[in-house]
Amino acid sequence: MKLSIEALVSGYGVVDVLHGVSIEIAEGEVVAVIGPNGAGKSTLLRTISGMVAARSGTIRYEGSEIGSLTSSEIPRLGLVHVPEARHVFGRLTVEQNLVVGASAAPAGTNRKDALAEVYDLFPMLGQKARDLAGGLSGGQQQMLAIGRALMARPSMIMLDEPSLGLAPLVVEQMYEALDGLRRTGLTILLVEQDVYMALDFARRAYVLENGGIALAGASAALVNDDHVRRSYLGI
Ligand SMILES: Nc1ncnc2c1ncn2[C@@H]1O[C@H](COP(=O)(O)OP(=O)(O)OP(=O)(O)O)[C@@H](O)[C@H]1O
Ligand SMILES: [Mg+2]
Repeated sequence: MKLSIEALVSGYGVVDVLHGVSIEIAEGEVVAVIGPNGAGKSTLLRTISGMVAARSGTIRYEGSEIGSLTSSEIPRLGLVHVPEARHVFGRLTVEQNLVVGASAAPAGTNRKDALAEVYDLFPMLGQKARDLAGGLSGGQQQMLAIGRALMARPSMIMLDEPSLGLAPLVVEQMYEALDGLRRTGLTILLVEQDVYMALDFARRAYVLENGGIALAGASAALVNDDHVRRSYLGI
């Protein structure tokens, strides 16, 4: 397994948010986590990436336990997280923002090659390389945040709500760009509130409710599941 999580418990202060979550993702798989506001989706990604400490349970990445590693050590293993609120450095250019992401790349990585790859996946970023990031639209900033994560040359990426706050047409464009990413064979864990987009993009999904996995399965089956249809698809 690429990522294997067992009985994970984590939270903030005295409150547990995740109450024993187990998920598995194989190499090259694209898996979504869906669920209502406050279910713990972002907390799950934050715990995997070391931003929030696990209280119990295990997190294995490529066979090694990473539960006690820090959020600066984990990206160096090739596992990167694009957090919910896209933080780009508005006063830096697009290219300078990307170069910041290269700091988590493995030693010996050629920065020019990494940049060329990102510009190949997101041509808009190449066209705007010298523009200030602060002047980009919301969708462009999201692509920049993803591009910056790719500069670390990851083998697995975790995306937290890439469509958040974007107009429907921009969401479509975002997913077209993400399709290019998927075709590179990268392992992707996607958290998404746009359940239609998530189930369309990912082959498999987990439904997280109240800090626990309520349901899991192939996206094609979940789309037809009564609970998913009623609670998430408004059918
Ligand atoms: N930094 C924090 N400190 C304390 N509690 C937090 C913190 N971040 C989140 N929480 C709480 O943890 C719970 C889970 O939040 P989380 O952000 O993981 O949910 P989510 O599924 O990502 O929701 P959303 O769909 O709104 O992004 C919520 O009750 C939230 O209020
Ligand atoms: Mg969230």
